[in-house]
Amino acid sequence: MADLKTFRFVYGGTTLYFGPEATEKAKDHLVGKKRSLIVTGKRSAKDSGALDDVLKVLDELSIERKIYDKVRFNPTVEIVEEIVEELNSFGADSIIAIGGGSVIDSAKLAATAFAEGRKPEEYLRWIARASKHLFLVAVNLTHGTGTEVDRYAVATITRTKEKLGTAVAYPDVSIDNPKYMLTLSKSQTMFTSLDALYHSLESAVNPASNVMVRDLSRVATEKIREHLKSAIERPRDIETRYMLLYASMVAGIAIDMAGTSIIHGLEHGLSGVVPELEHGAGLAIIGPEFIKLLYSVRPTETWEVMRALDPSLRPSPDDYEKAGEALRRFQESVGFNLRLSDYGFNEQKIREAVEVSWPLYDSRRFPGLPEMSKEDVVSILRKLL
Ligand SMILES: [Fe+2]
Repeated sequence: MADLKTFRFVYGGTTLYFGPEATEKAKDHLVGKKRSLIVTGKRSAKDSGALDDVLKVLDELSIERKIYDKVRFNPTVEIVEEIVEELNSFGADSIIAIGGGSVIDSAKLAATAFAEGRKPEEYLRWIARASKHLFLVAVNLTHGTGTEVDRYAVATITRTKEKLGTAVAYPDVSIDNPKYMLTLSKSQTMFTSLDALYHSLESAVNPASNVMVRDLSRVATEKIREHLKSAIERPRDIETRYMLLYASMVAGIAIDMAGTSIIHGLEHGLSGVVPELEHGAGLAIIGPEFIKLLYSVRPTETWEVMRALDPSLRPSPDDYEKAGEALRRFQESVGFNLRLSDYGFNEQKIREAVEVSWPLYDSRRFPGLPEMSKEDVVSILRKLL
């Protein structure tokens, strides 16, 4: 049995508790609060046992609460605005987000928009700069996004289908408890871990990366390679969940420090146009093709992480095809073989997605990457239908 200790550390603006006793240990941070709005989705907070644990803590501390449970994946600004209204009408002094990326990101945006009296869209368009937020606790229910340790939030502007990311708020307190991951479905297990894998790869390859980012990314990739298959086969094994959660958490720090790259830029366009596309699935469909580009331009940095997937890779641009193959083979080994057409994409939707994501794609390009036209990107995506 591995060492599954619970530990605490501070990163950014977040005090994070990690491990099977994380929820109990984080409790003191709520002392003195009077009214908490719990933000969550329909089922996972209940199924995982997290909601019951949080309600117990609130009872012990005599904190009144109201539950808002309408967050769906790929959340919209309308959802965030509804949460802000709930915060106002309830007179909340704190917000407790229990969920994955969609829930925690919606809560980050709402906590900021509420405290500053501005529209969520202004943050997503970087018109407003966030400087304060309502006290926010994030109870993380997936091992993917890393949003519990970063300041970013992503939401979709419905009328333009733009899925945009912005820097708003570190949660004040985050809880990474692996026991809440035991009820994740097979596909959630796979997609969220693949999201964490791409956080590792893309932050390492980003010119803003540093030795720490690449070390964290390599460790995350090793853990995902080592444990993802067994988590899919034995979903209720706490040790594999602990390791995958650790991987996604350190990959979250990596993206907070260095950002993502063109794969995330493009994926946001795809799932903006087809909201049924899970973020991790979108990344994994396009990733093996686009990692080749990144490997050919920044072979050393990409190799530092990707050698965890294929030790025979060399830090040479000549290995770019091999790198794409290594990623594809790994994904297939855990049972991932989806394509864009499985989500109803066709030529027209691909074009729409490229159009929508172009500013994001372009902003994540970095010196040395070959000049690509929209038509070039469309033709790569067409092969993935
Ligand atoms: Fe992501």
